[in-house]
Amino acid sequence: MSGGRGGGAAVHRRRRGGSAVALTLLTAWLTCCVRYAEGVKPSNIVLVLVDDQDVVLGGMTPMKKTKELIGEAGATFVNAFTVTPLCCPSRSSILLGRYPHNHEVRNNSLSGNCSSTQWQKGPEAEAFPVYLSKQKYQTFFGGKYLNQYGAKAAGDVDHVPPGWDQWNALVGNSQYYNYTLSVNGKAEKHGDSYEKDYLTDLILNRSLSFLDDRSPQHPFFIMLAPPAPHSPWTAAPQYQKEFNNVQAPRDGSFDKLGKDKHWLLRQPVNPMPNSSLTFLDNWDEVVLKKKISKHKMNKNADVQRSLFFCPICPGQFSLPIDKRQLYEFDIRTPLLVRGPGIKPNQMIKAPVLNIDLASTFLDISGVNLSTVNVDGQSFLAQMAPSLRNSTVRPFFLVEYTGEGNPTKDPTCPKLGPGVSQCFPDCVCEDAFNNTYACVRMLDGKQDLQYCEFADSESFVEMYNMTSDPHQLENIVKKVDPSILQDMNQRLIKLQSCMGDSCRNIK
Ligand SMILES: *[C@@H]1O[C@H](CO)[C@@H](O)[C@H](O)[C@H]1NC(C)=O
Ligand SMILES: *[C@@H]1O[C@H](CO)[C@@H](O)[C@H](O)[C@H]1NC(C)=O
Ligand SMILES: *[C@@H]1O[C@H](CO)[C@@H](O)[C@H](O)[C@H]1NC(C)=O
Ligand SMILES: *[C@@H]1O[C@H](CO)[C@@H](O)[C@H](O)[C@H]1NC(C)=O
Ligand SMILES: *[C@@H]1O[C@H](CO)[C@@H](O)[C@H](O)[C@H]1NC(C)=O
Ligand SMILES: *[C@@H]1O[C@H](CO)[C@@H](O)[C@H](O)[C@H]1NC(C)=O
Ligand SMILES: *[C@@H]1O[C@H](CO)[C@@H](O)[C@H](O)[C@H]1NC(C)=O
Ligand SMILES: *[C@@H]1O[C@H](CO)[C@@H](O)[C@H](O)[C@H]1NC(C)=O
Ligand SMILES: *[C@@H]1O[C@H](CO)[C@@H](O)[C@H](O)[C@H]1NC(C)=O
Repeated sequence: MSGGRGGGAAVHRRRRGGSAVALTLLTAWLTCCVRYAEGVKPSNIVLVLVDDQDVVLGGMTPMKKTKELIGEAGATFVNAFTVTPLCCPSRSSILLGRYPHNHEVRNNSLSGNCSSTQWQKGPEAEAFPVYLSKQKYQTFFGGKYLNQYGAKAAGDVDHVPPGWDQWNALVGNSQYYNYTLSVNGKAEKHGDSYEKDYLTDLILNRSLSFLDDRSPQHPFFIMLAPPAPHSPWTAAPQYQKEFNNVQAPRDGSFDKLGKDKHWLLRQPVNPMPNSSLTFLDNWDEVVLKKKISKHKMNKNADVQRSLFFCPICPGQFSLPIDKRQLYEFDIRTPLLVRGPGIKPNQMIKAPVLNIDLASTFLDISGVNLSTVNVDGQSFLAQMAPSLRNSTVRPFFLVEYTGEGNPTKDPTCPKLGPGVSQCFPDCVCEDAFNNTYACVRMLDGKQDLQYCEFADSESFVEMYNMTSDPHQLENIVKKVDPSILQDMNQRLIKLQSCMGDSCRNIK
């Protein structure tokens, strides 16, 4: 890695501190049989959850092995979304199968409930591994859990969440070397030997040992959550030279002025200065390297299958980096699944959400879903119609609470308090008032997005995704007011929905 690039990553690490981004790539592998009859042992499940994998900006292009081994051998969901684009709230939604307003994890800080003691006493005790464990699954976790996991003020490494038989969780946010793991409640420190410590490889190796040692009469659930391709983007040595000359793609909304958009999108410099362009091109390059490291993991594993999730925006609407926006590049994620009953080469258009993973796993394991407090729904029917009748959900919610700093940033004297992620060139990617909720209508006929901001302008954005897939034109002033009113009513219902009422909005 060149000095310049290393420097960029270091700046990024320092400036972003503990905050991180939303999720990305999931792969699920099902073996054996789905439990649809009594006495049948349910499927084994492997979930690979990668971090910051996007789909709109070409993030899947280098993932050739993953596409071949999972997508072509099973189902690729072309309308997969996260219900919130920030890391800790999104991971919490995956674990609980709930929208953020029903698990109350607001941001990546302890004060915003990220792995807080309140979360540990409350929602975490109802996460999907608890149910899988009751169904006699043997469970394994390896990798990044929640950004504040292992914090001294919230149980330290001694805290092992319920439902996991083998626990290998990273303390804090993404690292590839020089990290601490909680191994079943005991701290294990790692240095920077590739052979001994590289985290992506280490969790894979441990999951293989788990498979060797387990008792075969029970089904297993493995969750591998490598930090890749999240910053600090430390590629494995053999992939350091790949993608040296890659640029971020210059299409779609790249460096387009955020016209008629909320205030945060009106502040970037347009066209972007060379310093921002250089920053984001270097960034894109390192992210690609990480993705390649991820392949290697898939290739070597004799367990490789998947689901996917994530978002990033290098240069969209002139924002240099990050993923805290309501637009497609930040909420649309990859999701690939293979397994028994799932026909190969399927491209599935039905919308699926990260909150649907928990229901899907519990459905496979034989849990009666009406007894579980989830907002999502099983997508088993979409992948394997011979096993389940499908239900359509034409509306869903995306909700986000903006992160800010209460004090002014001394390196950006022109900016006031309340903003965050102001780099490079003092362009801010987030703020307390970047708080919004959106309803997405995706019913096979219309594809509309309607969003309301909790800011001093009560700003509203609406996009017709059919005619304007890059969300260049806010149509709020043009569209028939009765459509706006309908969307507003649905949004109000969704923002306080719970369980069935989240799935059955008319
Ligand atoms: C954190 O979660 C608890 C319940 O688990 C809730 O009472 C509290 O209001 C939440 N905090 C925030 C900031 O949402
Ligand atoms: C790990 O820590 C050692 C000792 O502090 C340091 O020399 C090395 O550069 C670090 N490695 C990485 C990849 O951060
Ligand atoms: C993982 O296992 C492989 C094969 O045994 C080994 O070469 C590699 O060093 C291991 N890596 C880690 C980080 O444990
Ligand atoms: C920005 O970069 C372009 C292409 O490398 C170059 O032509 C231009 O002169 C640069 N502008 C500034 C202000 O440095
Ligand atoms: C699932 O649980 C609901 C609510 O307790 C119950 O009414 C229903 O009969 C159960 N279904 C099955 C198949 O057991
Ligand atoms: C789907 O629904 C039909 C009609 O209610 C029922 O006969 C059939 O058994 C169902 N199939 C599955 C796989 O649940
Ligand atoms: C996280 O949420 C809490 C509770 O709302 C808030 O006090 C805190 O400022 C938030 N953190 C950031 C970085 O925005
Ligand atoms: C949002 O907050 C920032 C920072 O506090 C402020 O400068 C800006 O005017 C606010 N914008 C709106 C529309 O509320
Ligand atoms: C969205 O665009 C499509 C294709 O141009 C059009 O058929 C549809 O009526 C539009 N919907 C709205 C609400 O403007």
